[in-house]
Formats: sequence, structure tokens, C-alpha cells
Amino acid sequence: MEKFVVQGGKELSGSINISGSKNSSLPILAASLLTRETCVIRRVPDVADTNYMIQILQNLGAEVERASGNVTIRSEKLRSHEAPYDLVRKMRASVCTMGPLLARRNRADVSMPGGCVIGDRPIDLHLRGLEGFGAVSRVEGGTVHLEAHDGLKGAEINMSGKHGVTVLGTDNVMMAATLAQGTTVIVGAACEPEVVDLANFLNAMGAKISGAGTPRIVIEGVEELGGAEHTVIPDRIEAGTFLVAGAIASPKGITLNRVAPEHLIAVTDVLQRCGCTVEISEHSIRIARAENPTGAHIITEPYPGFPTDMQAQMCALFATTPGTSVVRDTIFPQRFMHAAEMKRMGADIEVSDGTALIHGVEQLSAAPVMASDLRASAALVLAALTAKGDTEISRVYHIDRGYEHIDEKLMALGATIQRLPA
Ligand code: EPZ
Repeated sequence: MEKFVVQGGKELSGSINISGSKNSSLPILAASLLTRETCVIRRVPDVADTNYMIQILQNLGAEVERASGNVTIRSEKLRSHEAPYDLVRKMRASVCTMGPLLARRNRADVSMPGGCVIGDRPIDLHLRGLEGFGAVSRVEGGTVHLEAHDGLKGAEINMSGKHGVTVLGTDNVMMAATLAQGTTVIVGAACEPEVVDLANFLNAMGAKISGAGTPRIVIEGVEELGGAEHTVIPDRIEAGTFLVAGAIASPKGITLNRVAPEHLIAVTDVLQRCGCTVEISEHSIRIARAENPTGAHIITEPYPGFPTDMQAQMCALFATTPGTSVVRDTIFPQRFMHAAEMKRMGADIEVSDGTALIHGVEQLSAAPVMASDLRASAALVLAALTAKGDTEISRVYHIDRGYEHIDEKLMALGATIQRLPA
């Protein structure tokens, strides 16, 4: 295992390029199972999660080649319809192979993903959605077995649940619907940019999807899909993470290139309200630390609301912002593993009922801390940027799951961060 050692107090400046979106790449890689022809997907970030998805596709019988950010996939001969536990347990997003496998082979055996540190990760909405096509599901030995002997029949399918919409659930149903008989209408669909990116890829393959990005998506089933080439959208959460790095440690300002600012409005709005200087152009955003930073009251919501994947990073900013800030996560109420670690660094954070009450302190102090989930771990790196002393962050494999070379990008901006054997 490896650790990061971050030297606190270095001011950031300069510019970096943001990578392609992890959360867009994963369902798009899975969607390549829907055709026998070749698909080429560009700007796939080289992170553990996309590599796990590639392993799952290869395990199913797909031929996959990766050359830097470009992934070429040919699923002509699938030898299996099973996504096994030893791969699925490493990455919950493997569940988004269900829809394509069911559509392609009328069967899917996918291990239950289990929970993770950000909370329970049920898939009841996925199963309810896929059963809407006439599929039958049963859980045995921790594996979900889905069958649709008579093929999938288009239907009206409601995807909303008690915690709101489901991103990967919407993806699964949309992918299955592309090859279903007749028309499917998804109501209560997720509106995230990653859902739109997937729909664009599927339409390039010959699907007939309209309404992606709205709560109502209409899919007209077709006989078969062909190969396609696609470049995934920029990673809005990586971009948001670096925006917070600038808000914490860059009085002069940093510039993020190759971003889609329209996907980050909820984040840039809050940072501007907190006093940061934020300059937006077509494909880049410049941010500088506020001269008089103020806190905020944030509630996470489905897109276009404030993203749950950015709440840990905001806690890192508010930990040293004068006054009191409130961060409430309505999507993953347990997603506060970062709070306990930041308190080890001297933060004044109280968490209860899915809400963090943060009283800003003058400065955090370096302490050995432990990464837990992807975004909580990135938040600890952010907190370390202005902490007094050198902060050691262990288990950085959590960060490598979803951030492409985060240490190299921070060093390019002037940070001192070492990757060392733990
Ligand atoms: C996607 O996960 C993202 N992952 C997550 O990012 C992100 O936090 C999440 O959407 C919410 O935006 C990928 O895209 C690979 P959900 P997903 O289904 O689709 C409940 C990261 O850090 N729910 O939208 O799995 C669920 O418990 C990751 O990059 C059900 O109740 O999340 C949660 O409360 C972490 N039943 C809410 O819905 C279901 O069947 C939203 O979950 C499915 C979900």
C-alpha cells in the first residue's frame, strides 16, 4: 500500500488539464456489450475503477485494448453473462453491466455490490426497473440472477426511490431499453450529465433515445446496435475537487482546462458566494482564494443540485473558513468518514443526522490520517494543503480509484506531495 505526504503551506498557481469523467466512462464501457461491433471510447481516465470495468468486460469475453486514454472494445463473442463477486465487490458500478447483459443475452448474473463506507448501496430500483421489461430476478448466494426468456418488452418504468433518483439505475434501464421490443418511457430518470453522455454514445450506436437529461426519457427499441466512437465528457467532480484546492490554497489563482463549466454551476455558484474569484470561459475555469472567505449552508441534491460527490471537499474548505457552515447530504446521509479524520487535524466538525456543522478554525495541523472512500480521501489531501506541517494520508488506493494522477497534477500546481510506500 502507499501513502501521501503533503507539505502544508505551499501556495498553488498555474494550470492543469482535467481528465475524462470516471462516472461517464464506466456505464459507457458497459454499453459496448450491446453490440458485436467495435467501439472506441476516448478520454477514459487511467484509474482503478475503469481498469476494473475493463477486467469485467474481458471476463465476459470482450476483447479490450487500452492505449493511453483510448479504449477499443469488441464484444463479438460473449462467453458469459456473469459479473463475478471478486470483481463486483471492488466496484459497485459493475451493476451497470446488468442492463446490457440482459438486453444482449436475455440473462445476467451479477453479484450484489454490497455496501461501502458511504452507506448502504441498494439496487432495488435497478431490479424493479429491469423487471418492468418482463425480466424475472432472484437473489441466490449473493448474486442477482436476471432472466427474460421472451426478450425485453418496452414499458413505462418509474425509477424514482425514497432517496430520489438513481444514476446507474437510470443507465441500466436506458441501456436495456435500446434493444427491447417497442417503446420504453423512463419517468423519474436521473438528469446527470453522465446520463446524457451515455445516451449520446448509445444514439451513436444506432439507438433511438430522446429526453436524456430530463426526468422523462423515451427509448424506441431497435433490432441491433452497431459500433461507435465517442469521447467522454470532462470529469466534473475532479474539476470541482481542484476548484476547492484553488479556493483553499491559491491566492493568485489556478486555471483548470478541458472542463465543461456548464456541468459545475452548482459548485462555482457556491464558491463565488463564499467570496472566491471565479472566472468562467468556454472550456476552462480560473479560481482564486477569497480575500474574505465566508461559509455557506449546502444541501446535496440530484443534478443540477449540489453534488454529493463534492460535499467532503467543501467540508475541507469550511474547516478553516471563518464562521459556521452547514453541509447536509440528503443522498448519502452517512457519507462523513472525512469528518473524523479532519477532527484529528484540529477541525471543529459535529456530524448528526446526515448533517455536518462546521466551525472554521484558524489553521489545521498535520496528523497521520486514513483515506476511506474516494471523495473523503481527496478531501483529506485538500485539508492538508494549508495544514501546519506534513500530513501523512494512508491507503491512497482509495484516491487512485477515481483521480488520474492527483499527486502529479497538484505538484504541477506547486504543491509538495510525495507518494511513498506506506
Ligand atoms: C452514482 O452512483 C455515482 N457513481 C456516485 O459517485 C454518486 O455519488 C451517485 O451516483 C449519486 O450522484 C457512478 O456514477 C459510478 P445512485 P449510483 O443510484 O448510481 C439510492 C463517486 O464518488 N438507491 O444515484 O450508484 C442510493 O442508496 C461515486 O464517484 C436506492 O435506494 O448512486 C442513494 O441514496 C460515489 N436504490 C441514492 O439512491 C437503488 O436501487 C442515489 O444513488 C439505487 C440507489
